[in-house]
Amino acid sequence: MNYRHAFHAGNFADVFKHTLLTRILVYLMRKEQPLRFMDTHGGIGRYDLAADEAARTGEWRDGIARIVMAQPPENVGALLKPWLDVVGPCDAEGCPESYPGSPALAQALLRPQDRIAVSELHEQDFHTLRRALGYDERLRLAQINGYAALNAWTPPKERRGLVLIDPPFESRDEFAQILSALAKAWRKWPTGCYAIWYPVKAPGAVDAFYDGLAALGIERCLRLELATERPDAAGPLAANGLCVINPPFVLKEEAEILLPWLCERFSRGPNGSWRAESLTAAR
Ligand SMILES: C[S@@+](CC[C@H](N)C(=O)[O-])C[C@H]1O[C@@H](n2cnc3c(N)ncnc32)[C@H](O)[C@@H]1O
Repeated sequence: MNYRHAFHAGNFADVFKHTLLTRILVYLMRKEQPLRFMDTHGGIGRYDLAADEAARTGEWRDGIARIVMAQPPENVGALLKPWLDVVGPCDAEGCPESYPGSPALAQALLRPQDRIAVSELHEQDFHTLRRALGYDERLRLAQINGYAALNAWTPPKERRGLVLIDPPFESRDEFAQILSALAKAWRKWPTGCYAIWYPVKAPGAVDAFYDGLAALGIERCLRLELATERPDAAGPLAANGLCVINPPFVLKEEAEILLPWLCERFSRGPNGSWRAESLTAAR
């Protein structure tokens, strides 16, 4: 476990993931009934972008900073607003006081009747996460393997909610581990919404992952991707995606508004691209 998210917090991939995550939670909160947010790979919760780790890569400068410095058109601005409200004010360089990771984002967005469960395996990161989120009776934090947590936590008693699976992809078989965890969770909770983040390095591996989902009988999913450059370009990660199982019906339309704008902000050249594709089991 060498991966530390503090080096990458606020980069284009975080912006992509967190804006979409916000849109899903906003949709789920249209109903009064409680929901549960489960975050299998939580990270440390809040990130100091002025700290040494973030300063060393400077990835946030090509991520969150480019968003807060921009003037989005009204329809994009309306979709970004709930997320930007949580990010809070930024300094002249586009640096927020602290950048909210997925558990902090959910904690700020969700309501008193909702519940949040987060697992983070790394011992030090887990303690940092616990300090960052503070006492909140809606929260349950566990220092356990995220895939074991998913198995233990599904189905949630609310029977509605979202699972975020956001592993570091340090293992070569991460896609296989996700499929195996989803196979169990899906059997127990086929109506849940699941969002799985992934890097796009070799597009063939991503296609195989979607084929694996189809083989499990997972019927409705949305394939959302954003590339700042050709996926195999040298340098930091260039392309990423979010697979949303049982997506809110508005998510594709919202992604078709957000992603072209994010793509313009983040593209490193003429090869930037985005994708929002609904898939069904018949594929
Ligand atoms: C990409 S980061 C998570 C970022 C976070 N979801 C966010 O959006 O702010 C992945 C995290 O997973 C943790 N991790 C690695 N292996 C894990 C495992 N098997 N179970 C749970 N957490 C794990 C790492 O320590 C790291 O903090």
